[in-house]
Amino acid sequence: MTTLLLDDLSIEWHQDYEIGIEDIDQDHKRLFSIYNYFNTVAEQGTKSPCISTMFVLLSDYAIGHFRNEEAIMNSTKYPDIVNHIRQHNGFVRKLDKIRNRYEGGDDVREELFMFFRDWILLHVLRDDRKIGEHMKKLTPVF
Ligand SMILES: [Fe+2]
Ligand SMILES: [Fe+2]
Repeated sequence: MTTLLLDDLSIEWHQDYEIGIEDIDQDHKRLFSIYNYFNTVAEQGTKSPCISTMFVLLSDYAIGHFRNEEAIMNSTKYPDIVNHIRQHNGFVRKLDKIRNRYEGGDDVREELFMFFRDWILLHVLRDDRKIGEHMKKLTPVF
């Protein structure tokens, strides 16, 4: 198994990442904290307790957060909603698959970490921000 240089992989939250909806931004900030915590703990070589906690935290995030985001996209007629929901569903499915392998005894630390990292970089910081851009178009500037 390859060894990650985890200390270089933390991701700092920046105000520019806010999409302008309080609940969603709070969830995203929290997700960054969870990610950075995972990064630190994984670096220390901790195994099972950290991984099982991570599955719980990520499942909780997915259940509440995706529902909120999808309701906002729906009510504001976000044009790319179908594709966005597909990504949310893909996250849930992939998380389940990794968890099943973990429960079967596989060491999934690296896979889970990279999956989480890709989610932040490719979904939260790219696709979720497009919802913010859409919202800004709807909000009149005085
Ligand atoms: Fe999100
Ligand atoms: Fe999303």
